[in-house]
Amino acid sequence: MQSLPFPFPVVQWQDDRVVLIDQTLLPGKLEFRRCGDIPSLCRAIVELAVRGAPAIGVAAAYGLALSWDLNRKTGRSLGRIYEAFEVDRAALAATRPTAVNLFWALDRLGKLVENLVAAGDRDAVEIGAALLAEADCVLAEDIAMCRALGQAGQELLSDTATVLTHCNAGGLATGGYGTALGVVFAAKEAGKNISVYADETRPLLQGARLTAWELADQGIDVTLLCDSAAATVLRQGKIDAVITGADRIAANGDSANKIGTYPLAVLAHRHGVPFYIAAPDSTFDPHTPDGDGIRIEERDPEEVVQFHGQLAAPPGVAAYNPAFDVTPAELITAIITDKGVFRPPYVSSLRALGPGLEPK
Ligand code: MRU
Repeated sequence: MQSLPFPFPVVQWQDDRVVLIDQTLLPGKLEFRRCGDIPSLCRAIVELAVRGAPAIGVAAAYGLALSWDLNRKTGRSLGRIYEAFEVDRAALAATRPTAVNLFWALDRLGKLVENLVAAGDRDAVEIGAALLAEADCVLAEDIAMCRALGQAGQELLSDTATVLTHCNAGGLATGGYGTALGVVFAAKEAGKNISVYADETRPLLQGARLTAWELADQGIDVTLLCDSAAATVLRQGKIDAVITGADRIAANGDSANKIGTYPLAVLAHRHGVPFYIAAPDSTFDPHTPDGDGIRIEERDPEEVVQFHGQLAAPPGVAAYNPAFDVTPAELITAIITDKGVFRPPYVSSLRALGPGLEPK
């Protein structure tokens, strides 16, 4: 398999299209999906061709630039372009409910158009260029935030350390650098000797397919685990820190992440191992007071019943498939952000994030 430039080109704007690494095909094939309209981009998000909270936000930002571009080229009036833009914004918002980065990006670009129009800008070409420039900023800022949080987080690790992670919170889940894996990459850049145990992450195997692939691609020692083996390696004393990403962090620090994260936090607590969440500004949701308010995506039960396209359970059996769970703040040792490392009580410490926790 061909190696990728780093940070990974997860989401790009090329030839008036949103171009994505098709993560459904990894690690077998490295192919790009070219989304030339909003329905195809929405499908790519729902099917997890692009996934991971920050990467979904970046894809949505380019999606709105695409929407404006397509509608402008039809020769419609500014009013009609704006109406179609709002329809596309709603379609993108309906793709996945849990990652707040999606709504953060849609609001950011939506407000940009509102402000330009309110300021008297009637030039559709100019507004389109501003939207594309803003999407470029969302991408560049995400990479910068992940580098910054990686740097802050790596200071928590000793010169030789073993990290346990869940799902994929790497370059593939972001603009290209990663959150939980950003900490690992930054530790490596700082000359530390870091090994990683990666949970395979049933049912869709983001840990096995994506985390193991990108760590190996970057020359980092990685060992794959069945999700159910995490307790054993923690009990064996093999893990110095558990680090995961997040899809949404409530104002009190409760954090939603891939299903199976909460049990890891319980296990880490049981074994006296620090449990860290790593996330950029765009993952904080000050409007949701605690984890009870976070909407958890439920996906097709077929994802549980099948394994690699083969039926793995009796035909017709019921299956429950919540895609995320919420780790209560009390189990989180620290939240690693681009603005530094925050410790409990998060209700007060997270306020110091300032603009990041302003209404989005
Ligand atoms: O369903 P997915 O693959 O989008 O879930 C992704 C995760 O749960 C990640 O851990 C999270 O988005 C953080 S990514 C930096």
